[in-house]
Amino acid sequence: MSAPLPEPRGPVSERVLRMLRGDGPSSAPLVSTGDDVLQDEDAQLSLWLLLELHHRGLQGVDPELEWDPQVIGLRRDLEQVHLAALRELVRDRLALVDPDDDLARQIGTLLAQDDGPSVADFLARRADTEQFLDFLRQRSIYHLKESDPHAFVVPRLDGPAKVALAELQYDEFGAGRPAGLHSLLFAQALRACGLDPSYGAYLDGARASTLAVNTTMSIFGLHRRWRGAAMGHLAAFESTSSMPCRRISTGARRLGLPDAVAVYYDEHIEADAVHEQLAIRNICVPLVADEPELREDVLLGVAACLALDALAGREQLALWHAGATEEVAV
Ligand SMILES: [Fe+2]
Ligand SMILES: [Fe+2]
Repeated sequence: MSAPLPEPRGPVSERVLRMLRGDGPSSAPLVSTGDDVLQDEDAQLSLWLLLELHHRGLQGVDPELEWDPQVIGLRRDLEQVHLAALRELVRDRLALVDPDDDLARQIGTLLAQDDGPSVADFLARRADTEQFLDFLRQRSIYHLKESDPHAFVVPRLDGPAKVALAELQYDEFGAGRPAGLHSLLFAQALRACGLDPSYGAYLDGARASTLAVNTTMSIFGLHRRWRGAAMGHLAAFESTSSMPCRRISTGARRLGLPDAVAVYYDEHIEADAVHEQLAIRNICVPLVADEPELREDVLLGVAACLALDALAGREQLALWHAGATEEVAV
């Protein structure tokens, strides 16, 4: 149920792992200097581990550390650096938004300007089986706790936005049927492909960009102050899911992967078309109508989701293309 402790990837995660194992603090630096924290696997793994204490916990780690002041302090320091980098990453995107538009149009502007590469197209048409499995392993970091980060926001909302978030998450959490839990559907897809469906099994292979997608969701979900960003992130996430899921499902069938893979993605084709409308019209719009000061945060959440997805997609495609080039060179 909880994640296994990974190998450290540098001085920061070394320090965090020592702290989590109860070996005491070390004097290692907080963040590797000169690195972009969003693409720094040492920093991202550290943040992921500290945030995971609030999700399912870590194997062999005292659950009391979730609220340990030293652990929280380190997490806060890393979060501040992460959030500063995130603001920088989305600055240009947010500049495209017309301040006089209504919120739904502003979100639409950001979605229309999305410049992320299409990993889904590559999976549909060109990926080989190992590339597809690589994709599933990276995505397992999120899908095995699908929708959990956004669930932290439920008690922070009220009125129509709260009702709509509960409606959306009712689907994500199985619509009343344990067998329909989306995280379980993904675990079944992994198992059917001969991959390890246990929680956090592929943490050691998770790239910085994969981890950054996840740490951002958890930071937004865990801080009441970022509830607007969490809901903006959800809106972008759902709005960029339905069509790609159709293509990914096509790719799974093209490669003859077990049905459980296409079943997972097919489930999201229609569901996320509905969730897109729910998240924008029924969550973000009433939330900002109720708390107008959250508008900027909602838009930041939208832009953050798109920018981080684009980062992860570019890295994923670059690695695959590099692999293809190496094969040709051999
Ligand atoms: Fe889902
Ligand atoms: Fe969804």
